[in-house]
Formats: sequence, C-alpha cells, structure tokens
Amino acid sequence: MERLFIFDTTLRDGEQVPGCQLNTVEKIQVAKALEQLGVDVIEAGFPISSPGDFNSVIEISKAVTWPVICALTRAVERDIDVAFEALQYAKHKRIHTGIGTSDEHIRYKFNSTREEILERAVAATKYAKRFVDDVEFYCEDAGRTDNAYLAQVVEAVIKAGATVVNIPDTTGYCLPEEYHDKIKYLMEHVDNIDRAIISTHCHNDLGMATANSFSGVMAGARQVEVTINGIGERAGNTSLEEIAMILKCHKQLGIETNINTTKIYPTSRMVSSLMNMPVQPNKAIVGRNAFAHSSGIHQDGVLKNVQTYEIMDPKDVGIDDNSIVLTARSGRAALKHRLHVNGVDLTEEKLDKVYEKFLVLADQKKEVSDADALMLAGADTADT
Ligand code: KIV
Ligand code: ZN
Repeated sequence: MERLFIFDTTLRDGEQVPGCQLNTVEKIQVAKALEQLGVDVIEAGFPISSPGDFNSVIEISKAVTWPVICALTRAVERDIDVAFEALQYAKHKRIHTGIGTSDEHIRYKFNSTREEILERAVAATKYAKRFVDDVEFYCEDAGRTDNAYLAQVVEAVIKAGATVVNIPDTTGYCLPEEYHDKIKYLMEHVDNIDRAIISTHCHNDLGMATANSFSGVMAGARQVEVTINGIGERAGNTSLEEIAMILKCHKQLGIETNINTTKIYPTSRMVSSLMNMPVQPNKAIVGRNAFAHSSGIHQDGVLKNVQTYEIMDPKDVGIDDNSIVLTARSGRAALKHRLHVNGVDLTEEKLDKVYEKFLVLADQKKEVSDADALMLAGADTADT
C-alpha cells in the first residue's frame, strides 16, 4: 500500500468561514481530536494575521505531539519570521509559504510579472528554509495557472528547498480530468519532482473538490489538504471524511491513510457544534441521513442483508449505534452514549443535571431525539 498524507486545514482555511471563529481553548480541543483521528499535518493558523491566530499556533503546538504543526504565510519575510516564532513549541514544524501564480493573481493582485513572481517564490522558500527543514510552497490559484509556467515555479521552489508543493484549485474552477492532467503534467515535466511531495488543495465552488483531489491523487499527488465536514472559504474545501472513506472503500487502489475512521463521526459532530456550522443532512459520510434507509424497498433489502444498500459499515466511521433510542425508560448510560456519539462528553455532575431535565421531557414524548438530547445538554442542534 502507498501512503497518502492527510493535511488538515480545518483550523486555518476552515476557520476563515464567517461565524465559525473559535477561541484558543476550542482550537486546542479540535487539534487534539485531529491528532486522535490520525491526521499527519495540522495547519494551525496564519500567525501574522492576528494576535489570536499567533497565540493559537503557540498553544496548539504545545498541546499536540505527533502531527506536524503548520503555519501559513505569504511570500513575505516578516510573515515567515512571525510564523517561525509561533511554531517555537511545535515538535514537528512546517512553514507553508506561497504566492499567486495565475495571470489573474499576477496582474490584478500583485501588479507584477511572471518573472518577478518566480523570483519572489524562490526567495520566500529559501528564507523559510533558514528556519525549518520542512517547507511547503503553495502556488495560489494553480487551478487557473498555465501548466508550463506552473511547472517552472514548482521546479524552482523544489530546487530552493521546498519539501512539499501545494497545487491549490483556489477558486474551485477545475474539472476533475483537468486537475488530474495538471498534476500529471507536473509529475512528467518537473525535474527532481521526486524530491518533494505534491499536494492537492481543492475548493468546492462547483461541488467538485473531492473529485478533483481524488483525481490529483490518481495522477501522483501524495498529500491532500482537507477539512472536517468540508468547511472552508465560500463553498468549502475537500472533506477529510470523503477522501478517507473513498480510499477505505476502494482498497484495490493500493493507497492508504493514517486516519482512524471510527473517529470521523465524533470529530465531525465536535467541529459542527463548536463552529456552530450545521452539516447538511445528506452530506456524504457524516450527514444525518448518510446511513438512513427510508424507502420500503431499501428497508426490506437492508433487513435481508445490509450489503444490498450499504457500501460501508456505519461503525467504520464511528456511527456505532443508531439503535439506542432514548425513551422515558432510558437510563443515564443511554443518554451519555447518545451524547457521546454526537460529539458531546459531559462530566458526571453535568450529566446528572441534564438527565433530570431529560426525564421531564421524555415523559412528554414517545421518543427523545438526538437534537432534543443535545439541546438539553446545551450543545448546538441546528442540524440534528
Ligand atoms: O485556497 C488556497 O489557495 C489557499 C492557499 C493559501 C493555500 O488556501
Ligand atoms: Zn484554500
């Protein structure tokens, strides 16, 4: 099996979503959950952007042991200085620097030329390399960048020391075949491409983020940049859970990740609840209806043999128990379990209080739903 590295940017690209901002304590909670989930890299923030982001990168670095902690910068020396300072406690550090490479970015954002941008890319990589061995370079808007020029930039930053090169489809514009061919072009035309890992970073503006990332992997990319629940700028990023389960369901591809898939659902619930960002009910893998069979024909088939309509076992993504239904006869343990499945863990003292309220409600209803239980526990319920 070949290894695909999972770079999670829930705490950077994901957290850029309006209304999804987390405080440092919440970010640490998410970072620890990502570590448990088995992600390889946590992009913890963009330290120069605010004192809050700077501080969060410091605290996440202290709290997390195994994953690489990555800090984002522009191709600007001051950004890189600040990122390195923020990473001082990280056991494994990465600086993620880069610049826009499409003609749209070069002309309208930088009022510059391809030659100048290439120079700035090399200079930023060399500068970051003074601080850390692990330097990732992003070619922003690579999705709309001319392939021959993109190859020139990728080759130059690898020569300057980049160990990972990120090829973002920043605007979510590419078609899966087009993105596949872009990565393939780089694999075939860049000298010493084997000295670096090529990374995908696909946005979901046309609903193709996962398809594009997957196509990139098929063409040779060995890192994918993803978020929990696919959150992120505008229509979001590639979702971690979709990539992890595609590879688990299609073992014949011979590519594996380090993700402990049974932690996917609790992590999804935690992120949704902390960010106050509902998950659409029909969202693949983690939506409320992702494993629900409602039509009579499907129910009949599933009751005969689950393989008729299920391509994955809900237990594999951490939905281990939909059969426990909360009623007036349920005890504390059942309530605790349903809350845990939904990403909420209470202290025994808090559980006692919630359980008292639960009994009052359960007396009035035939069945207490997960949404009711979460509401009683004071967690977000908008999507459940
Ligand atoms: O979408 C993008 O291009 C990015 C880069 C900053 C990596 O998020
Ligand atoms: Zn992005």
